[in-house]
Amino acid sequence: MKKLRKAVLPVAGLGTRFLPATKAAAKEMLPVVDKPLIQYAIEEARAAGIEQFCMITGRGKVALVEHFDVAYELEATLRQRGKERELAMLREAQLPPGSIVAVRQQEPLGLGHAIWCARAFVGEDPFAILLPDDLILSETPCTLQLARAYEQTGGNVVAVVDVPREQTNRYGILKVGHDDGKLVEVVGLVEKPRPEEAPSTLSIIGRYVLMPEVIPHLARMERGAGNEVQLTDAMAKMIGQVPFHGLRYEGRRFDCGDKIGFLEAQIAFALRRPDIAPAVRQFLANYQESA
Ligand code: G1P
Repeated sequence: MKKLRKAVLPVAGLGTRFLPATKAAAKEMLPVVDKPLIQYAIEEARAAGIEQFCMITGRGKVALVEHFDVAYELEATLRQRGKERELAMLREAQLPPGSIVAVRQQEPLGLGHAIWCARAFVGEDPFAILLPDDLILSETPCTLQLARAYEQTGGNVVAVVDVPREQTNRYGILKVGHDDGKLVEVVGLVEKPRPEEAPSTLSIIGRYVLMPEVIPHLARMERGAGNEVQLTDAMAKMIGQVPFHGLRYEGRRFDCGDKIGFLEAQIAFALRRPDIAPAVRQFLANYQESA
């Protein structure tokens, strides 16, 4: 079995839910506390042993690749001023030479189309997908949890969580086979079903480990929900061909593509930061008093 070494990060989205902030800036550069969403995703992937990254980008998204480059002038200035802590932060946001590539999606034809754009990068290897909008707070990084499940099962693994039935039309939903409470056998998949038609309420969140066999299915460019090329539909074609599981991951997921989810993430992540948590707790208490 091949080790998981590659990750694909689709970041071509227009971020319409976050206008006007995303008019001229990439939504994946929005910070939670002091770190952009894209950096959380890259760090999570690296914590799972992933070494090679492919961003699926589009117009106006160059800053995302730039963010992981060497910032030579900034480094020199910080060094001159003896700002060691800030220098260390810069280096944390730097990837080793040759470990990141970017391809352009060019047309917004859906998540499936975005992943297909990474076909040359994927080659014959298993790969992770991280949707940076989904930010996960957990003890064990979510992608590492998936990587372990992949090592155990040797096939596709997607991170899943139960959602309220009225929300099934926002997610890829599993039809569930054998279920040990943590690992769930996937026997069917539907993209964004209406609540009354959903085969379960177990939904896919933005973390996947997929086998390269998904690429030929994507290449057919069949349109699905919303007239888009859906990753979920291509994955569904692999059921019965490769082992396929959902993993009830440990952790809390924040939908940072949504204003409320994004604000909640700020608070949750700030409360995990020893340097600012006491001040945050204090101002939260003040708001509660005045509510
Ligand atoms: C995409 C996928 C969907 C998945 C979701 C997770 O939908 O198509 O299956 O459940 O991400 O965030 P999107 O959020 O792009 O509409």
